[in-house]
Amino acid sequence: MIDGEIAVPSRSSGLDGWESGLAPHRPTRILVFDSGIGGLSVAREIRAARPDAELTYVADDAGFPYGAWEEAALTTRIVALAGELIATHAPDLFVIACNTASTLVLPSLRSTYSTTFVGTVPAIKPAASTTRSGMISVLATVGTVARDYTHALIDTYASHLEVTLVGSTRLAGLAEAHMRGLPIADADVAAEIRPCFRKHGARRTDRVVLACTHYPFLLDSFRRTAPWPVEWIDPAPAIARRVVQLVGPARAGSACGRGRAVFTSGTAPSGELVELLAALSLSA
Ligand code: DGL
Repeated sequence: MIDGEIAVPSRSSGLDGWESGLAPHRPTRILVFDSGIGGLSVAREIRAARPDAELTYVADDAGFPYGAWEEAALTTRIVALAGELIATHAPDLFVIACNTASTLVLPSLRSTYSTTFVGTVPAIKPAASTTRSGMISVLATVGTVARDYTHALIDTYASHLEVTLVGSTRLAGLAEAHMRGLPIADADVAAEIRPCFRKHGARRTDRVVLACTHYPFLLDSFRRTAPWPVEWIDPAPAIARRVVQLVGPARAGSACGRGRAVFTSGTAPSGELVELLAALSLSA
């Protein structure tokens, strides 16, 4: 059952309001999953939209980066891991905050588990419907640009446009370093985004889809190093709206929900990441 507040079975004592015997409800549980910490770009929008939800953020950092994984092996890993996470955390909603995973494993997850999954896939549709020049680029991992799913999105929404697919092997790692407060060079970022920028006479790229959830954390650097201004399309707000459609809005006056961050490597977060997690009320 998915709703704004979820009835708790009688044996689930210890949850909000249950001990008093008054309100047999507990907060909505949302699990947000990514290969690393980039999915926090999605988690922060969900936290803003549903501050009362109990949020579990899972970084499969033992498997990071997903970009270069072979498809069958990555599917097996994520489907098995999702099963363990569902058993442990019993989420009402499971958000795959990773394009590299979503464009591959959503059908397998949905056919294996009855939990509701929300995926993150390249925002080609909004880019295609708003471009003025007819030239858009999709910036993603090499895995995402190779996926049949991504090519099907282009065929469906952007077959009349010039679409440039740019697979980066380095940006997710650069984003992770930046999120931990480590220095990264603008020149390295510039080299990765450069192929997104194309020109034909007076026409040039005007939309770049951020098709990896790590990339919104590099937006300042993208803007500084871009050869010309473009719209950078981040799907995170749309994903949060979808989450609210499925679980309902926050209850007026409800307290800020608890949250935790789980790292599959078992490594404790360090540096500025600790503050980033704290800002989302996620304790490690
Ligand atoms: N955050 C992931 C995505 O949205 C990918 C990062 C990785 O390479 O693991 O695609």
